[in-house]
Parts: sequence; structure tokens; C-alpha cells
Amino acid sequence: MLSYQHAYHAGNLADVHKHALLATALSHLTAKPKPLTYIETHAGRGLYDLGSEEAQRTQEAEAGITRALAQGWLPADHPLSDALSAVRGRFGPQAYPGSPLIASHFLRPGDSAHLAELHPAEHAALSEVADFARLHQQDGFAMANALIPPLPRRGLLLIDPSYEVKADYNRIPGWIARMARKWNVGVIALWYPILADERHRAMAGALAADHPQALLSEVRFPPARAGHGMVGSGMFVINPPYGLDAEAERLAALYAGL
Ligand SMILES: C[S@@+](CC[C@H](N)C(=O)[O-])C[C@H]1O[C@@H](n2cnc3c(N)ncnc32)[C@H](O)[C@@H]1O
Repeated sequence: MLSYQHAYHAGNLADVHKHALLATALSHLTAKPKPLTYIETHAGRGLYDLGSEEAQRTQEAEAGITRALAQGWLPADHPLSDALSAVRGRFGPQAYPGSPLIASHFLRPGDSAHLAELHPAEHAALSEVADFARLHQQDGFAMANALIPPLPRRGLLLIDPSYEVKADYNRIPGWIARMARKWNVGVIALWYPILADERHRAMAGALAADHPQALLSEVRFPPARAGHGMVGSGMFVINPPYGLDAEAERLAALYAGL
């Protein structure tokens, strides 16, 4: 059932898009001296080795974070540069942070964090690096539903499914609408792949109709290899923090040049 492993894809062009927006949002939210809650439904293993057999087999990070750094996509003062430097300083030059370690870079002692990861091996790996958070080896949607609205009430929910369950596309708009009703001050961010068959379109349309003030950031890129289905990356953000729209525009211009 759970066959997706992010180690093959860590640091690819979709991760750069998602993680640049996540780091920008968290950097802004943690600039204020008020505690917050970070909740993530699909956490992955938290830390990736771009020299691993999995990463080397696909070379997706070469076209992603490695090229982004070489081409100056992330200025030194960019929040994702900060998080990446901190993780590489601790774990070595081939390390790449997943969203949990990006979050951990910004979270402060009074903040609260909850991460769900269902896959036993991914969960075990996550537990090695995520002592800042409460870990849940359960369905992320169920975990978030039980926690929302959280305390502290300010905060961010990241939903980053692997879309292995095709029904996700249908159920996500209704589920997000329920979370947004329960937690009207929460920043709710959903990542989705843009596939060649455009199967995201109905979901993204329903989300935009339900939440007209939300930020919709979509970027397109060449497929990682011939026949690979993913041709872009989408982030949908309810209650986007100040500055996130500018970062989305900056990223859109960079990806448009690929
Ligand atoms: C795209 S990866 C997460 C990547 C991570 N958010 C990041 O940006 O670094 C999706 C993860 O969700 C896990 N997963 C799949 N179904 C799940 C579920 N129902 N609840 C929690 N985790 C799940 C998979 O094992 C996989 O590790």
C-alpha cells in the first residue's frame, strides 16, 4: 500500500518550490514573539542524503536543489538557505532537509510540533532526527483532525500527501474546508503534484472556489526523465503569511525560465 519513498525525490524541483514557500512562511510566523503550533500530516523521514543510492539513481536533486543553488535561486538570506546551511553544517554537505527539519530550524522552545508519518521505516528514521516534535505513526488526516484547533492557536498545517490513494484528490477539498472552519486563524498549506494528465485540476479548482482569498502557487518544469509524469508543483495556502505572495511570484519567474 505505502510504496512511495521520498528518498528518490528529495531535493527535486517540486521540493525546492514547496520548501522555499514553507521556509518563507515559517520565517515570517516565527519573527513575532508569540508561540505557534506546527502540524504536518505526511512528514517523511525528515533528513535525506543526496549521495544515497536512491537519490543517485534518479538524480532529481541535481536538477533541483543543486542547480537552484548553482544558479543563485536562493540568496544567502533566503530562509531555505538558512535551514539548508544549518542542516549541512550538522549532517554534512550532501544532506537535504525534509519539511520536518526545515520546520525545526525555525521553531522556538515555546512552540509545539506534531508530525504524522505512517510508514514504519520512514517513521523510525524520522524519530532519529525529530526530537523537537511529537511523532504520530498514524494517518495524518486523522491526527490533524484530532488536533485542530490546536493550542497555541497561531500556527501552520502542512499537508503533503504522496497521492498514492487516488481518492485523496476527491476528499481533500472537503477535508480542508472542515479544518479551515475549525481553525480560522491557521495557515493551511497543501502541496500537490502537477501531472501531465492534469488530474489536480478539479481539486485545485474546488479549493480556489471554497477559499477565494487563498494563495495558489503553481510552477511548471521539464519532467525529471522521459515519460515521468510530474511536470509541475502546486502549493495552496489559506491565510498566507505576509510576503508569501511575493516569494511565490519570485519562484514563478525562476521556474518560467527553465
Ligand atoms: C511526499 S512524502 C513527505 C515529504 C515531506 N513532507 C517533505 O517535504 O520532506 C509523503 C509521506 O507520507 C507518508 N504517508 C503516506 N500516507 C500517509 C498517511 N495516510 N498518513 C501519514 N503519512 C502517510 C509516506 O510514507 C511518505 O513518507
